[in-house]
Amino acid sequence: MWRGLVTSLLQVARHTGSNSVRAVSCKSGSDVMDLGHMRKSYRNDDEAFEESHLVSLDPIAQFSSWFQEILECPAIVEPNAMCLATSTKDGKPSARMVLLKGFGSHGFRFYTNRESRKGKELEANPVASLLFFWEPFNRQVRIEGSVEKISDEESDKYFHSRPKASQIGAVVSKQSQVIPDREYLRKKNTELQEEYKDKEVPKPAEWGGYIIRPSVIEFWQGQTNRLHDRIVFRRKVEETETSPWTHPAEGGWVYERLAP
Ligand SMILES: Cc1cc2nc3c(=O)[nH]c(=O)nc-3n(C[C@H](O)[C@H](O)[C@H](O)COP(=O)(O)O)c2cc1C
Repeated sequence: MWRGLVTSLLQVARHTGSNSVRAVSCKSGSDVMDLGHMRKSYRNDDEAFEESHLVSLDPIAQFSSWFQEILECPAIVEPNAMCLATSTKDGKPSARMVLLKGFGSHGFRFYTNRESRKGKELEANPVASLLFFWEPFNRQVRIEGSVEKISDEESDKYFHSRPKASQIGAVVSKQSQVIPDREYLRKKNTELQEEYKDKEVPKPAEWGGYIIRPSVIEFWQGQTNRLHDRIVFRRKVEETETSPWTHPAEGGWVYERLAP
């Protein structure tokens, strides 16, 4: 098993053409893969992310500015891929990747099956955290907030803007449910392709969008000396704690620098 894992890691290193050290070691008789030496150089202190580098004191505009830069980087194949973390009512967390399908002052949107694991968790506990990691820029953005459903009308509009094969795929897949095998999906897909050959695919009732209304947005930029930059915007509400280093921002936000 270890040999397979080592080979895979070396293949990843070759595939990415990374110049960071990728040798891995597994001491004989040990069941621990030692990755302690794996680290990559980020940026130098003269490239630090300073408060004066914020293009706006509105965190959505700041996100938009970073996202624009990321869009222009061909090495980032899916800039809108983000990790979505949800949790059960009693705090058992789960995380998975989804695609950001829009953002603005209202919040951050994605689409899914509302009867999936994430959908059920959001029903019981409508809060979530989003994480973007844009490796070539050594940047991550963390977003936390409450979650609301996007209207059926809007979900329907987006559903029908997707390629027909994806629409059929959404009907085929009762996301997160146990199925017998892949053949089951193939068969159902073929049947539905035939059924909807000349017809519009109706959006499944359980398929739709969510919007995360952010209350925290953190901009993180990695530095080689590990003195990473962390600038965090928090929505200012009555009980928001402040410190001498809490600064007013725009649109009801405050911002602070956190220790890395
Ligand atoms: C890059 C990437 C993007 C994805 N985008 C979506 C998405 O937008 N919506 C979605 O429902 N699942 C998406 N998935 C699949 C999810 O990660 C996950 O497998 C699925 O939603 C079921 O999650 P759940 O069982 O936790 O609800 C994506 C996976 C990857 C790797």
